[in-house]
Amino acid sequence: MKLWIVLFLVLLCMELQNGACQMLKRKKDAGDSRNRPGGKRVRIRLPNLNGKKVKSQSLLTQVLDKGRFLRLGESTTLTPGRNMELRCKGSNIGWSYPTYLDTFNDSRLSIRQSDKYSQLVLTSPSAADTGPYSCWVIVCDGAECQRDQDRTYLSYIYFPDKEHLFVPSAIHFEIVYLRPDRPTVVPCRVTEPHAKTSLHREVPPEEITANVTQMTYDPTKGFVLQRSTPELQGVFYCKAVFKDTPQISTKYQLLYVEVPSGPPFVSLGAFPETVGGGDNVNLTCTVLGEPEVDVSFTWSYPGQDQRPVHIRPSWRLVNRGMGYTTRVSQSTLTVEDIETIDFGSYVCKAKNQHGETIVTLRLNST
Ligand SMILES: *[C@@H]1O[C@H](CO)[C@@H](O)[C@H](O)[C@H]1NC(C)=O
Ligand SMILES: *[C@@H]1O[C@H](CO)[C@@H](O)[C@H](O)[C@H]1NC(C)=O
Ligand SMILES: *[C@@H]1O[C@H](CO)[C@@H](O)[C@H](O)[C@H]1NC(C)=O
Repeated sequence: MKLWIVLFLVLLCMELQNGACQMLKRKKDAGDSRNRPGGKRVRIRLPNLNGKKVKSQSLLTQVLDKGRFLRLGESTTLTPGRNMELRCKGSNIGWSYPTYLDTFNDSRLSIRQSDKYSQLVLTSPSAADTGPYSCWVIVCDGAECQRDQDRTYLSYIYFPDKEHLFVPSAIHFEIVYLRPDRPTVVPCRVTEPHAKTSLHREVPPEEITANVTQMTYDPTKGFVLQRSTPELQGVFYCKAVFKDTPQISTKYQLLYVEVPSGPPFVSLGAFPETVGGGDNVNLTCTVLGEPEVDVSFTWSYPGQDQRPVHIRPSWRLVNRGMGYTTRVSQSTLTVEDIETIDFGSYVCKAKNQHGETIVTLRLNST
């Protein structure tokens, strides 16, 4: 009877192959039920637990020396300086890794796909490479391919470095926007998950506590402030302590942004407002929006394709009292030496990631 239970657990183990299994295996080894003479090989099917799909194990592994593999969990700590090789099983695999590696087109990173697996190699990793590494199976239907969400695996990899408790950043002074409708993240991530961190305001010098604002620290993200209020504006930095050596992060300028997300809010004006033949006119399409939301403009106008015009896009950030910040995006269309054909409707179409807005202005002759 006992043997049956052990056998069942071992087989269940082989199917699941997770950490708990190792323990059971050891227990089994300790007992004397191994290699029993005359013991039959019994095949037991893995029970379909209440008909639910058993979550598949990660296909993301790290290649250790001597051809051993380590299945990567949610987070992993690796040694900086030692080359990292990850593999993901499958004949068509996609990868993602810290964007920093792409921004600098880092030659330390290479990805190779073979018949059975894809391999990602990162040579001499350092604290700056700390971040999420993910692979997924790509499924194709004819020429259309997409990521298989159920077979996407992720591990957050730390490269701890005593000299860099915070993940080094190329930007020494970062702007973080506080939005009334969502939490704010001060992105001071650590390379050592067990470091003790705190958030500080520069002027007046003060430590921000959960008492001041509801907040939590996530080593893979930074400080998450639940309520984004204008009072939180200012210059901040994070402090990390690990084995008694405090370190300070880069500085973060928190700015409050009041403009809600949506299609652009557009206004269109002409200067001068009334023109006659031979005059010059500037038509300016203006969008007030969130600081980092790009706006693109397209124009249609009476002399299209027949008359030369100049179109000049521009944008700038504007502080609107109380440190509120908005982005002013503009497109100016200039018509010189106006002819009869130039009178009529000027249409400006402004588009951002949330939608588009069309505004029209009639240019009449004096
Ligand atoms: C990145 O580097 C590779 C090899 O050094 C080069 O072929 C490629 O054009 C580069 N890409 C960009 C976007 O700079
Ligand atoms: C909030 O502040 C009070 C007084 O400074 C302190 O006694 C209390 O422990 C603090 N609570 C938390 C959750 O930090
Ligand atoms: C139109 O804008 C340009 C650039 O700002 C300026 O030089 C020009 O004087 C303007 N023309 C009119 C008619 O306002």
